[in-house]
Amino acid sequence: MALNLDAIGRKIGPVTKDYTWKDVVLYALGVGAGFEDLEYCFEHQIKVVPSFSIASVFEFLAEVGMSSNADLSGILHGEQDIVFHNPIPSEGTLTTEGTLTNMFDKGADKGALVVAEAETFHSNGQKLFTNYFTLFCRKDGGFGGEPGPSESVEFPDRKPDFEEKALPAPDQPLLYRLSGDIFQLHADPEFAKASGFEKPIMHGLCTHGYACRAVIKHLFPGEPERMSRFRVRFSKTLYPGVPIITQIWKMEEGKAYFRTVNADNNDVVVEGGIVEWISKEELDRRERLGGVRFDDQVAIVTGAGAGLGRTYALELARRGAKVVVNDLGGARDGSGDGSKGPADEVVEEIKALGGEAIANYDSVATPEGGQLIVDSAIDAFGKLDIVINNAGILRDKTIVKMEPENWDAVMDVHLKGAYNVSRPAFVKMRENRFGRIILTTSAAGLYGNFGQTNYSAAKMGLIGFMNTMKLEGDKHNIKVNTIAPIAATRLTEEILPPELLAKLQPEFVAPLVLYLCSEQCPVSGAIYNAGMGYYNRVAIATGPGSVVGDGKEVPTPEGVAANFDKIKSMKGAEEYTNATAAFSPMLDAFSPKKEEASVDDDSGLTVRGIFEGLPEAFQADKAAGVDVVFQFDITGANGGSWSATVKDETCEVTEGSHSSPTTTIEMGDDDFVKMISGELNAMSAYTGGKLKIGGDLMKSQLIEKLFKF
Ligand code: NAI
Repeated sequence: MALNLDAIGRKIGPVTKDYTWKDVVLYALGVGAGFEDLEYCFEHQIKVVPSFSIASVFEFLAEVGMSSNADLSGILHGEQDIVFHNPIPSEGTLTTEGTLTNMFDKGADKGALVVAEAETFHSNGQKLFTNYFTLFCRKDGGFGGEPGPSESVEFPDRKPDFEEKALPAPDQPLLYRLSGDIFQLHADPEFAKASGFEKPIMHGLCTHGYACRAVIKHLFPGEPERMSRFRVRFSKTLYPGVPIITQIWKMEEGKAYFRTVNADNNDVVVEGGIVEWISKEELDRRERLGGVRFDDQVAIVTGAGAGLGRTYALELARRGAKVVVNDLGGARDGSGDGSKGPADEVVEEIKALGGEAIANYDSVATPEGGQLIVDSAIDAFGKLDIVINNAGILRDKTIVKMEPENWDAVMDVHLKGAYNVSRPAFVKMRENRFGRIILTTSAAGLYGNFGQTNYSAAKMGLIGFMNTMKLEGDKHNIKVNTIAPIAATRLTEEILPPELLAKLQPEFVAPLVLYLCSEQCPVSGAIYNAGMGYYNRVAIATGPGSVVGDGKEVPTPEGVAANFDKIKSMKGAEEYTNATAAFSPMLDAFSPKKEEASVDDDSGLTVRGIFEGLPEAFQADKAAGVDVVFQFDITGANGGSWSATVKDETCEVTEGSHSSPTTTIEMGDDDFVKMISGELNAMSAYTGGKLKIGGDLMKSQLIEKLFKF
């Protein structure tokens, strides 16, 4: 069973978790809180133990283990590093998304490390924390990979500055597991014995919670929201009911090292601890500034010398971004040599606000110009996070009078301009694994506007550009969205009536653009109208359509005419995220499966049908030398028992119970169907208690390889 190295870079999530103050208190009790630190346990003054953050990501962690294909019987939680960005509210919904970032090889007898990272956002829009996970896969070493970095903590050669004793109750894991980690090892005495332990052991993450409370108590008492980092390495297992001591060395203001030892035998159970915290002043500052921040981020805004671009640049800088103010300072129709004035003035305005900015005067209309704009960001600030493609000109003419130079000039600035800047920007964002790109379309392109064929075509071309760039950016955490603004600027001052212009200040467009540029932006590939503080989404929707003929003989135009009402109907229209998905209704319309599908389940699968189809799903070529009996006990009204005996490339499926199965699988009927149809992840079903595996746990991993549904 080898690690699946192809899973490196795989995106995991989003997984969501709704929680209330009761979940917060349950977790706190699970990690030993009580009357002594009542702020974690009493809803009238509730604060969240920061390590609660881990309770929101068990499902994510389970998917990491599953994607890596590591041998489950050898997986241990190796390291956990959490960086906190904002205080954790006492209720809401947490959304976690991340990536399996790497796999390292410590050697054939030492094991492998599977590393993942995930960001968690709260339903209030704030990014709360980033988790860095390291799974230690004892049985998967020796695949020939890099050994990977290791961050060691040198404890000072003096007694700890603080020590905190605690006595987890003999039943502590039974309480802790209610926060989500219900792995049998911590509750089932027989399972614990089969895994080589005297009895169920403490969850490493439960001891982690004790350590978290201990460091807060001694370093920033009563203010858990000041924690900015909490890192540990899990070194030894611990039985419940054994006293522990967390030893803390304060290294400097805002940083300490710690470890937690078994007080009976001095075993270090939590090793290499690093805790960091922010000052009260910094906490106040963060609270004042609110959620959408761009600190340490670098943004390019093209055409930022005036109008909408100027507003975006000022707002980004106000919220902490370093900004490249690009503008060639040309005329409304793009003619003339341009001037440095507009970009310089905006840079001065930003500096007067206390922000950081540089001017750039290159034209977006050439690839060289685009490259120079991106280079100026890298030269001045070292990286690039955000690009707002905003520069624009107008050359309105009706189609007959639309000479090629007017067509081309508009294409060059709007459509090619976005390409010229976004392409080199994408390279830098990909290196940094983060990017936000905004394109600027227009109602003229989305809906049409007399006298603007050039502008409408360029603006609609940007939608196609976005549709594909969003797919290419997806795995690099680069999100691409499009804005259709309406605002009083020199582009609209002659077109719109003065009373309307007064209401259309560019400042009312900027909030949506800033949100789309932020880390917490949840969407990619979307189009929004924005003006006067009114925002709505525009979408390309596809009607359900109609089959004309039987798919074998070519239909006639008369057949189309007879069905035209259905063909043009948008009732029940759907949006598709890529061209292949949009093609699938056409394929489905002629798929025989569709008519045969059972009505029992959305996927057409039934438990009995799955077992009847098992011999067909069997992959004989993957079963050389395999000798295993799987016993499936599916509970519920539609369940039953079946065994599958796999031996030397053969598979025999029998209804009923086998007398000596190698591995037993117990599951509810609905969950089983969902798991087989891919709706339910096997690992999360297992860790969530929906899937119970008995006997040889490791052999259960063969199921995925041996059967393809
Ligand atoms: P604006 O004319 O006030 O600002 C555009 C800026 O782009 C100008 O400062 C100009 O010097 C700069 N620019 C032009 N060509 C350039 C080039 N080749 N390289 C670098 N900079 C260049 O216009 P506004 O209204 O602020 O327009 C911003 C964007 O919003 C444009 O893409 C426009 O098409 C779009 N838009 C605006 C609407 C509105 O109601 N104002 C409506 C729909 C779209």
